[in-house]
Amino acid sequence: MLLLTGATGLVGSALLPRLLEQETQVRCLVRDPRRLGADRVRVQIALGDLTDPPSFRNAMRGVHTVVHLAGSIRDQPRGSIEELNGIATWRMVEAAQRSGVERFLFVSALGASTHNRARFFRAKALAEQAVREADIGSIVLTPSTIYAPGEGWLRVMERLAVLPVIPLPGAGRAVCEPIWAQDVAECLIAALRSGEGRADPIELAGPQRLTYNEIVRLLARAYGRSRPLLHIPTPVVSRALRLLQSVGGQRTFATWEEVELLEVSMISQRGAADAEGLGVVPKPMSAVLASS
Ligand SMILES: NC(=O)c1ccc[n+]([C@@H]2O[C@H](COP(=O)([O-])OP(=O)(O)OC[C@H]3O[C@@H](n4cnc5c(N)ncnc54)[C@H](OP(=O)(O)O)[C@@H]3O)[C@@H](O)[C@H]2O)c1
Repeated sequence: MLLLTGATGLVGSALLPRLLEQETQVRCLVRDPRRLGADRVRVQIALGDLTDPPSFRNAMRGVHTVVHLAGSIRDQPRGSIEELNGIATWRMVEAAQRSGVERFLFVSALGASTHNRARFFRAKALAEQAVREADIGSIVLTPSTIYAPGEGWLRVMERLAVLPVIPLPGAGRAVCEPIWAQDVAECLIAALRSGEGRADPIELAGPQRLTYNEIVRLLARAYGRSRPLLHIPTPVVSRALRLLQSVGGQRTFATWEEVELLEVSMISQRGAADAEGLGVVPKPMSAVLASS
């Protein structure tokens, strides 16, 4: 039995069909099974929450492998970014050890460091450390920015790309190596197949190194529109979003913590080499957008 967290997310929804196709028995730790769509009848459901450690214990029964994808780039009513990404991962790996789980795959992020300016990356660094130090066969994968046409942050940018001018917080000069969620899912399948735990993280990076300015222009071109970019100074965005958050809580359309991530570069040391080592050749973002 394989326990999958984050099955309803960008990566999880690309990974789950592949696992089911190869007839892996999957249990999904979810907050709301309806979000699994039609696949909810093909998996075991473990109702759970990253902020509820007893739910991990129940979910781990009879499990040999955990694939831990769940996380959050915004605070939630029951847990901060640090709890949802850092402490929850530590608790998850502890629960896995206690339950005799053999392998723990954890998806962190390129650039995770306790010195990073963004809370999310600091929390991921602590999570990585917990996984590394655990007495369990572990594999840590560190993706750059992950995208899928029509989903997640790309959907927001796609909407902005139809405006007469495209507003972009900050200078848009942070660099990433965007990798398609389907390619990430293929890499996870290959890492699972390889069997062994690994000491070094596997970098997951696409073949193009792009600034967020370039990504927005790429999107605009993909929709046949050429629009000027309007850079909104970071202090203005930060103040406006913090004000919105203080009024509307975490239900605002964007939070400062999410937007701040656009200011942080996510660059690999080895480019697409690690993915290729797993037998996956990540597609360029321009090609994925052109065929979507
Ligand atoms: N997307 C990127 O650009 C990127 C880049 C680097 C690393 N990563 C990492 O890669 C992993 C997968 O990312 P993703 O883009 O697929 O994430 P995503 O689309 O934001 O999905 C997050 C997943 O976590 C679940 N989740 C959130 N809060 C939860 C909670 N309190 N309890 C239980 N489950 C909870 C969500 O479930 P619900 O359906 O209940 O909300 C969803 O399934 C994450 O660990 C992320 O940090 C992502």
